Amino acid sequence: MSPPDDGARSTIDHRRVIAIDGPAAAGKSTVAHMLADRLGAMLFDTGALYRAVALAALRSQVAPDDHQSLARLARDARIVIQPPSQRDGRLYDVRLNEEDVTWPLRDPEVGAIVSKIAAHPPVRSALLPLQRRIASDGPVVMVGRDIGTVVVPDAGLKVYLDATPEERARRRHQEATRRGGIESYEDVLRETQIRDIGDSSRDTAPLRAAPDAIRINTDDMTIDNVVAEIESLARARVDATGAPLWPS
Ligand code: CDP
Repeated sequence: MSPPDDGARSTIDHRRVIAIDGPAAAGKSTVAHMLADRLGAMLFDTGALYRAVALAALRSQVAPDDHQSLARLARDARIVIQPPSQRDGRLYDVRLNEEDVTWPLRDPEVGAIVSKIAAHPPVRSALLPLQRRIASDGPVVMVGRDIGTVVVPDAGLKVYLDATPEERARRRHQEATRRGGIESYEDVLRETQIRDIGDSSRDTAPLRAAPDAIRINTDDMTIDNVVAEIESLARARVDATGAPLWPS
């Protein structure tokens, strides 16, 4: 089953949507946060939606293969993503039914089941309208796995960020350790690889670069370099009259 098409996509202007897709820990969220800041756009990290459903499932003891209950959770959950309310390293706040779950969403228990949950078509369908609504409100930098392929296929700029699994695990491990996490590098690498396989091999909206996405391998790049490269791609985009879509 494919996610439903709301039929409104073709009439809505998505030229000021920047889609950033890629595998786990490729640096998407950090890059998107800095880019959104420079461009004066909103940041919307769609992974937080899937993580919020995974957390809700853990808390209500719904099994990761119970797709009907998961879809109900996804439909009923009140998930709000908003600018950060605290300076504790978070890039944004995530509220699940009014509770601040920004950090619980990063727990390894959530990471361990989120890909299984995200693979269910009814869960994806339930989360699609919110994502499309935010895309229509633009300007926005949207981060995920299927933004350029499914959620906003007519986004004005599509980027696919990649890095080797080892480099991604190294970055994620460093970040988790800084926050007091106790997972080993090997565990983080294993989790990253399992998630990659799950995300790339699912039938619905698998992780893949859109044909017109610009691929950037970030292995040997600093975050600043990646942000600068995407910013210059965005600044070069013009509308039908030749006016810049993202004037400096
Ligand atoms: O931050 P990280 O790259 O570790 O993951 P995330 O962006 O928070 O996404 C967590 C999981 O949600 C992914 O591994 C996917 O299984 C799922 N996801 C998805 O299926 N589609 C999206 N647009 C975003 C996330």
